[in-house]
Amino acid sequence: MEQRKHSILFVDDDPFILRGFERSLDEYCENWRADFAFSGKEAINRLSEHSYDAIVTDIHMPVMDGIQLLDAVSRLNPGVIRFVLSGDTSDAQILKSTHLVHQMIPKPCEMQKIYGIVERACCLRDKLSDPQLLRIITGIKTLPSVPRLYNQLREQLQADTISSQAVANIIAQDAAMTAKILQLVNSAFFGLSENINSPQKAVTILGLNTIKSLVLGIQVFSEYQGKKNLPISIDAIWKNSLQVSSLAVSIARSLNLSSREREDARVSGVLLDIGMLLSFQIPGFYQNVIFNKNGQSLIESEYQYMGTSHAEMGGYLLGIWGLPDSIVEAVTFHHSPVVQAALKPDLLTSLHVANGLLKMCQTEKGQNFVAYLDMPYLQKLCLVDRLDEWVLMTRDLLENSHSPDGLES
Ligand SMILES: [Fe+2]
Repeated sequence: MEQRKHSILFVDDDPFILRGFERSLDEYCENWRADFAFSGKEAINRLSEHSYDAIVTDIHMPVMDGIQLLDAVSRLNPGVIRFVLSGDTSDAQILKSTHLVHQMIPKPCEMQKIYGIVERACCLRDKLSDPQLLRIITGIKTLPSVPRLYNQLREQLQADTISSQAVANIIAQDAAMTAKILQLVNSAFFGLSENINSPQKAVTILGLNTIKSLVLGIQVFSEYQGKKNLPISIDAIWKNSLQVSSLAVSIARSLNLSSREREDARVSGVLLDIGMLLSFQIPGFYQNVIFNKNGQSLIESEYQYMGTSHAEMGGYLLGIWGLPDSIVEAVTFHHSPVVQAALKPDLLTSLHVANGLLKMCQTEKGQNFVAYLDMPYLQKLCLVDRLDEWVLMTRDLLENSHSPDGLES
């Protein structure tokens, strides 16, 4: 089947830069249909005439700058993925664009690199076929944080002496904060040679002053303001994700995974059900999925109502935010790892097993692996014999887990 051409709109007030983009498109971007606009106004006109997958705009332009343009795009065409180009890492404007931009790209940047970043996001976009879901998720500016953690972080940042470790530990427990901070630090804009998978490292790289302006000034995080007494709560999602994170690290260790993969397991556990936070914003989600399951599992009910699940929705958001592939894949496939052709146990294995066993041990008295785990996948990896050992680990964690104030190492 022929791949659909992706439609990209480039915006820059400098004609030399746009011509440079145009010239290098033929070499690297055969499957793109690209248009060019010299101003924000022209870009808005083009967006009203044609549907685009992504927009790549310069940040500094006269009359309507890149931030104003992306603000308009996020309201008028929320399904378009938004990239910004900026040449100055100390640019205060770039921080102000954090909630509007999916990814920041340094300027100048070779077209080959721009192509890689934009094309990856567009390919993820292709996987989400429902136009309404696409608009909701791509249009998301902030995700809700656990109120208790949100308030703790604000208090910590307003204290006379701020502990960078304490700030990082609060962020590391909250899916929305973790995702946002990793989005920022992994942006090509910062030009780091390795992917950053730990909120602690992200806080060190960004520095406390930047974190302070992001949280207290630009208010890049937001407190969950949703309804109470629902069958699914942000607190329940949070507690489950911390338990999955902790168990996934232990399972990764027992599988002799590398320290990098164990760190990936920790952060992927925290981000595991970030798609559930997106679900809060989907009209009819509670009535049609949560309240009306008719004996189905949550996942089955999600597929029936939305044609996708919280796992794919979360993976899509993290992908267009530019998080490392390993984390995006683990989150996307945590309920269905067999889709991935695994040859050996990896991060996804530890996440899938931790999530499944925690649910099983919390719900059932005995062992019912088939209902909670992808057994053909575990058989393929010769891991079925390890399950009894991991069940003991799970029960141990459940017996000894208190209110999760911190992450164990
Ligand atoms: Fe899940």
